[in-house]
Amino acid sequence: MLNANQSNLTSTTTPLADQPRLSIADPQASQPISNSRKNALLPGDTAAHDWYRFVLSFPPHLVREYVDRLGVTTDEVMLDPFCGTGTTLVECKKLGIPSIGVEALPSSAFVSNTKLEWSTDGDALMDSASRIASDVQRGLVNEGIADEPSNEGVDLFELRQLPSDAAKLMFKDAISPLPLHKTLVLRDELERQWSEEYSNHQMLALASALVGDISNLKFGPEVGLGKVKQDAAVVSAWLDRVAKIASDLNVLPDSEVAAKVKCGDSRQINEVLPPKSVDAVITSPPYPNEKDYTRTVRIESVILGFFEDRMALRSTKKQLLRSNSRTVYKDDADDDWLPANSPVLELANRIENRRIELGKTSGFEKQYANVVRLYFGGMARHLKSLTSVLKPGARLAYVVGDQASFFRIMIRTGQLLAQIAEECGYSVEGIDLFRTRLATATREQLREEVLLLRWPG
Ligand SMILES: C[S@@+](CC[C@H](N)C(=O)[O-])C[C@H]1O[C@@H](n2cnc3c(N)ncnc32)[C@H](O)[C@@H]1O
Repeated sequence: MLNANQSNLTSTTTPLADQPRLSIADPQASQPISNSRKNALLPGDTAAHDWYRFVLSFPPHLVREYVDRLGVTTDEVMLDPFCGTGTTLVECKKLGIPSIGVEALPSSAFVSNTKLEWSTDGDALMDSASRIASDVQRGLVNEGIADEPSNEGVDLFELRQLPSDAAKLMFKDAISPLPLHKTLVLRDELERQWSEEYSNHQMLALASALVGDISNLKFGPEVGLGKVKQDAAVVSAWLDRVAKIASDLNVLPDSEVAAKVKCGDSRQINEVLPPKSVDAVITSPPYPNEKDYTRTVRIESVILGFFEDRMALRSTKKQLLRSNSRTVYKDDADDDWLPANSPVLELANRIENRRIELGKTSGFEKQYANVVRLYFGGMARHLKSLTSVLKPGARLAYVVGDQASFFRIMIRTGQLLAQIAEECGYSVEGIDLFRTRLATATREQLREEVLLLRWPG
């Protein structure tokens, strides 16, 4: 077993690691990309990727680099078991590599699947959206409401609202009453005029306009409240987003390459995917850092009907890796997947001791040590269940970041996962440095790394 401090993790010796290391380069400029821009979407990569994207998603050029490093060919199958908004799958489709994704959040699975639908005719999509926009605008004008934010004296009691169970899931002021009304009018018209061909893209455009233009949210990178605007253009913001999708669809190939996302829990991925069906993995799982993905996607999940009430939210939360103290349940037992001598247990003890030393007593803080055990235990469970899905010789790349969110105690995520992977029977081929990030609390540079594994079979 590897020791967390062993530095030879970065000096690789296996055939995979013998392959020349590519530096991440901007294809337009053929120049290495600076640390601060390493995570950015390059201008030539926007098609399909920017239809909707998590703020912290890894970039398409990273996927290209590791497709090369892992030597993945077009007759192999790529998996992203934590596919989020689908960067790996979209990029693989562009490269002609068949892929499959697994994602626990229904709204993100919908987003990714839609980003992979390229056979829709862009002009026809736009015509359909323009007709819907005119119908909605006409309806709003009849109510005395303009799409552009110029409304004064509108009777707020007359406005459409979310059903009360759904409204309870929204953050205060996430969206103001007038923009919400216009959004619900548009959403209902989209549902009324539902079409197999266009509606998914049109709903995706609404999800992305909600997050980016219509709501009061800001992402930095956690979801928070920005300036609360009483009114916002909804129909025109939505139509602009449909226009971008439509113009991409006119240039993206009508590719036959298979790509599909399943909504499910990657800690039991053997129940989601057939045995020995995957040749390679490029993924970025959550990190143990208090980020709650159900908050990131809350507004579109509620308004588009993916979370209707607390029960629906809770059952989705239960499918997620435990990476934050808001998503921990009494019957959680993923820590059972850690071996008795795991360094994670020692790390969790240090976090708990620091809590006691600092006199921190909130319910969330009391969960920090538990979250760390459950997170790494959950990753062990994922890696174990994945073994039956992989073909012998499969190559894997996990993009993970060090964290210091729990009383500033450093969590070397990549190194700890390397040890867990070895325990599960994988061979560790190396850990590459992708980039460093400044930790706001400690002002320390945190490493974001790519853990390279091989499944011997
Ligand atoms: C770091 S994000 C991935 C971002 C992704 N690379 C992209 O392009 O958007 C991690 C994702 O894992 C998902 N996730 C968390 N636990 C999961 C589980 N047990 N099974 C499947 N997906 C899960 C989260 O909902 C989130 O979307």
